[in-house]
Amino acid sequence: MNHPAHLLRDLVYHAAIKAGFTLQANDIRLERTKTLQHGHFATNLAMNLAGKLSKKPRDVAEAIARELKNPLIQKIEISGPGFINLWIEQKFYTDECHEILNGLDDYINQSLGLDKGNKKMLIDYSHPNIAKPMGVHHLLSTIIGDSIKRIYQAMGWTVVADNFIGDMGTQFGKLIHAIKTWGNLKEIEKDPIPNLLKLYVQFHFEADKDVELDDAARAEYKKFEQGDPESRQLWKKIVRWSFMEIQPVYDRLGVQFDHLNGESFYEDKMPAILKQGRSSDLFTDGQDGAWIVLSDNPDEPPAVIRKKDGVTLYITRDLARIAYWEKEWHPERMVNVVDVAQEFYFRQLFGVAEKMKLTPAKNVHVAFGRMQFKDGWMSTRKGNIILLNDLLDEAEARALKLAREKGTELTPAQQKELARVMGIGAVKYNILSQNRLHNMTFDWNTMLSFEGNSAPYLMYTAARAQSVLRKGKITPKNAARYELSFSDDRERILALDLTTYPETIRRAADEYKPSFLATHLYTLAQDFNAMYNDLKILQAESDASKKTRLLLTGATVEMMQHGLSLLGIEVPEKM
Ligand code: ARG
Repeated sequence: MNHPAHLLRDLVYHAAIKAGFTLQANDIRLERTKTLQHGHFATNLAMNLAGKLSKKPRDVAEAIARELKNPLIQKIEISGPGFINLWIEQKFYTDECHEILNGLDDYINQSLGLDKGNKKMLIDYSHPNIAKPMGVHHLLSTIIGDSIKRIYQAMGWTVVADNFIGDMGTQFGKLIHAIKTWGNLKEIEKDPIPNLLKLYVQFHFEADKDVELDDAARAEYKKFEQGDPESRQLWKKIVRWSFMEIQPVYDRLGVQFDHLNGESFYEDKMPAILKQGRSSDLFTDGQDGAWIVLSDNPDEPPAVIRKKDGVTLYITRDLARIAYWEKEWHPERMVNVVDVAQEFYFRQLFGVAEKMKLTPAKNVHVAFGRMQFKDGWMSTRKGNIILLNDLLDEAEARALKLAREKGTELTPAQQKELARVMGIGAVKYNILSQNRLHNMTFDWNTMLSFEGNSAPYLMYTAARAQSVLRKGKITPKNAARYELSFSDDRERILALDLTTYPETIRRAADEYKPSFLATHLYTLAQDFNAMYNDLKILQAESDASKKTRLLLTGATVEMMQHGLSLLGIEVPEKM
């Protein structure tokens, strides 16, 4: 364990042990300070220990500081109520930059002391509903889920992505009824999704006037569940048509799944769940003959597992999914990236799953808020349904304008490719850079701006850093020959950005928040640009400074590419 970042934590740990305290290395949090005046890193360890031992935090801090002697540590100060502030030798940052240039995956692994490939996660994201256009919340789930998958992979987890597509459920009763009553298969086939949507809308319109229709749809759905061949045939067609719409969106987004086990996949797995729930007396009879699970909280409604007519529900299939994931993969975690609107539903689901002991895995609902469209772009579209392909087209068209403005020395084909990368990247980054727990805003102008927290800004910074290296005739990899020799705080700050990357990834993973990573990259870009704008790199005052800045530039390029790839964003080489 002689990796530098590890070493730092170890040093503090051993000093505390020597000073006579009992603790775990994991209890130690080394935080980056706000300004260099307070050192490079600070730890509140002394305050934590003092609290438990009822000692004065500053005394504890001093006892630890006395033992904290190492050539890596330049200076120690105790500040405030008992923070230990550390200044670190530049040799440390040189080593870190070398590790970064050796490969960021290894760097993260070693720096966090990870156990590669030891843990497994099953993750469900995207999950659009068949026969309906993908909604905006499905886009959010797709993009957030894909990034969480990548971040956990970087953390050494084995991640299996399984898309719980909505390909069953009572809406099919409505749709099949509508097709049979008003539809014409040949006509539908010409433009399936909009036509199915029209039929679906027509059903709701007619059902408002005619209450019998809902019963007809229910009967239709029951027939389908019982395996009626005509309904099954129709359903298969609908699923196929829907994929013709969904797959191109996935391709454009560069999103992949290991499995597409939609709700219908669990059809033959539900009877076992129903049997288990009934025989253990967990599923009791509701008033009207439905099977229910009462909540432990009397103010909450029960979970309905089977309807009075014997038809299964969304939750029945989700329970079967949890059981199947457990049986197939025995993962440590099961994650569902779903709209906050389903928060109560997931609480119910996990509660019932726990009572049934379906899995020892930790079930997590990663919720996200709504997307608000700032410039009314949505309202100009049909209803409040947005066709994702239209949205991506619009993003690329707007990005093309930018690409033409900025990339004047590119060929038209290169401009078009740049517009694709920027347009898709901008949509993704706009989502991922916002705290998923709050409502998010969708604003074409900010997301496609070269200034501020946007994908084009980060891409532009990465391209600029790459072009510095090109002009200096070196690659990031061979910048690793150089050593750091700091002469300016802008260099030190950039070096700190680089070394705090593994902690950022850990935090993004722990809290399922890619936004921490986005913020890190934005800071990195700003601090690189400060160095680029205020200091000379290739024409630096001394050879030592030139090498320092080239090493930092090389590490910045690598980190920008790595970080953006964890957000699922491509990086253009030239802009
Ligand atoms: N298809 C559902 C919907 O659009 C979301 C599925 C979420 N995943 C799950 N395992 N329940 O509302």
